[in-house]
Amino acid sequence: KQDVNVRLELQKASTLEKIVQRGTLRVGLEAGYMPFEMTDKKGTVVGFDVDMVTEMAKAMGVKLEIVNTAWDGIIPGLLSDKYDLIASGMTINQERNLKVNFANPYIVVGQTALIAAQSADKIQTWKDLNNEGVVITSKLGTTGEQAAKRLFPKATYKSFEMEDQAMLETLNGKADATVYDLPMTSIFFAQRGKEAGMKFLNEPFTYEPLGWAINKGDPDFLNWLNNFIVQIRNDGRYERIYNKWFGS
Ligand code: ARG
Repeated sequence: KQDVNVRLELQKASTLEKIVQRGTLRVGLEAGYMPFEMTDKKGTVVGFDVDMVTEMAKAMGVKLEIVNTAWDGIIPGLLSDKYDLIASGMTINQERNLKVNFANPYIVVGQTALIAAQSADKIQTWKDLNNEGVVITSKLGTTGEQAAKRLFPKATYKSFEMEDQAMLETLNGKADATVYDLPMTSIFFAQRGKEAGMKFLNEPFTYEPLGWAINKGDPDFLNWLNNFIVQIRNDGRYERIYNKWFGS
């Protein structure tokens, strides 16, 4: 009797089987994080993550469905089965890893700082951010927010729902600095920050591997994802997608 129960438990369908049976891979992300996922002029979600999961769906022989979700609800959405995985530039950290499993990292980023034009003299390095009177912005519920609070406790922290709002606050001189992930700060600096006289401290001061999150207790799916990453990293597919979004 016990053996039967053990066997039934082992046979619990993997998300992988559900995806194949359904014929659709459902991916949760929040558009707005350049160049990983953002909305183009036509309203389509495009970016590095989107191309990666498009390749993934192709390898599974299924269609792709993007579920655009607010960042603060993105893990609850996975836990309540609104999508099969999160591919949203999510940093693998220990706190999140208590709730979800992560496939091996597909890229490594880190926190950087955009400095307002009027604060450029008083803030020379990221360590100068930890001072009274310094106002720092970042995005709600991100590792940027966590880093700002942890590393710069003497500063005043101001949270924003979206990353572009946080960066515009600094561009407009209402804050001294925005702390956020490297690729996004660098794109914003090139597009708007530089001509507005902002300073960019582009040396990352945190270590942040990004990974796809899935529900716990699904070794089959995790195994598939990890092997998929190794494969695309070495057969030219990863390189092509990487160069498309990060190439100069
Ligand atoms: N890497 C950061 C984090 O995990 C920011 C990710 C934000 N992603 C997004 N799609 N808005 O907290």
